[in-house]
Amino acid sequence: MKGTSLSGVERDALRGRSITIHSPATVANMVCGFDVLGFAVQEPYDIMRIGFSENKGVTIINEDEYDLPTKPEDNVAGAALLAMMEELEEGIGFELRINKQIKPGSGVGSSAASAAGAVVAANRLLGERFTKEDLVRFAMNGEKVASGVKHADNIAPCIYGGVTLIRSIFPLDIVPLHAPPLYVSIVHPQIEVRTSDARGILKQQVQLKDAIRQWGNIAGLVAGLLKNDYALIGRSLEDVLIEPVRSILIPDFEEIKKRSKDAGALGGGISGSGPSIFMLSKDEQTARLVEQEMKAVYARLLLDHHTYVTTINMEGVKFIG
Ligand code: HSE
Repeated sequence: MKGTSLSGVERDALRGRSITIHSPATVANMVCGFDVLGFAVQEPYDIMRIGFSENKGVTIINEDEYDLPTKPEDNVAGAALLAMMEELEEGIGFELRINKQIKPGSGVGSSAASAAGAVVAANRLLGERFTKEDLVRFAMNGEKVASGVKHADNIAPCIYGGVTLIRSIFPLDIVPLHAPPLYVSIVHPQIEVRTSDARGILKQQVQLKDAIRQWGNIAGLVAGLLKNDYALIGRSLEDVLIEPVRSILIPDFEEIKKRSKDAGALGGGISGSGPSIFMLSKDEQTARLVEQEMKAVYARLLLDHHTYVTTINMEGVKFIG
């Protein structure tokens, strides 16, 4: 959708209007699906307000404690908006207020929430000029600022809601997937893992036998989701490529996984590039038991942590007013 222009009447209608959204956290990879699977959760979420501004370009106002860059090119939300504005024929201006509740570097899609939230909200302000696929394309520019590469496994579920398969990013091919009801336990140890670092340590070659196991798991996970087959979902939540390398960055990762499964979790692993760990359960009671196990491990290590028990967010970015 190139060269979209605003009429004078539309511009007048935009003036003074603003929109508030909640942009949700997301769990990328879903264990075996590195860069190709992800889902949105109900909590946590960032709060953002965007309005039309008399000043051309993007003005960013941080309303949180994180002191993120306000220069649009260096800000993930700003970069996403700038990419969108390149496809609007005439220069307009946005003022974006960001109140991040999703800590940067936590592994639950903090940068994606900012980038996706900004373009979804701006698009609403513009009268839904762009498709969801366009919005993913714009928001991936934010991921590039954050991690050095474009990937859509946080962005796509943030925009579409639910579980998404990103079959390809060039060209974009996004497949929203059905999923049965699932409860999600997340523990976020209060250490920061930069996605760029967590990507930098990965091996660039894989053995054929490992690749076979991995694509068997991805296919099994997708089939399990589509068929509401919880046992198949659980069996398929295995990652023989990425987790063995990245898990060394996360304190007591194996113990959390074992204790969570012993408590009844279907399975789980590193959320995105970590350090958060997520586990899926069939019911809330089990998800809460899993949360207790996660807390117990980090309490013993005297490691500060936050936990969430939540469900899959089917809506994605939510308009508040
Ligand atoms: N797929 C990306 C990675 C997600 O694992 O590096 C980052 O949140």
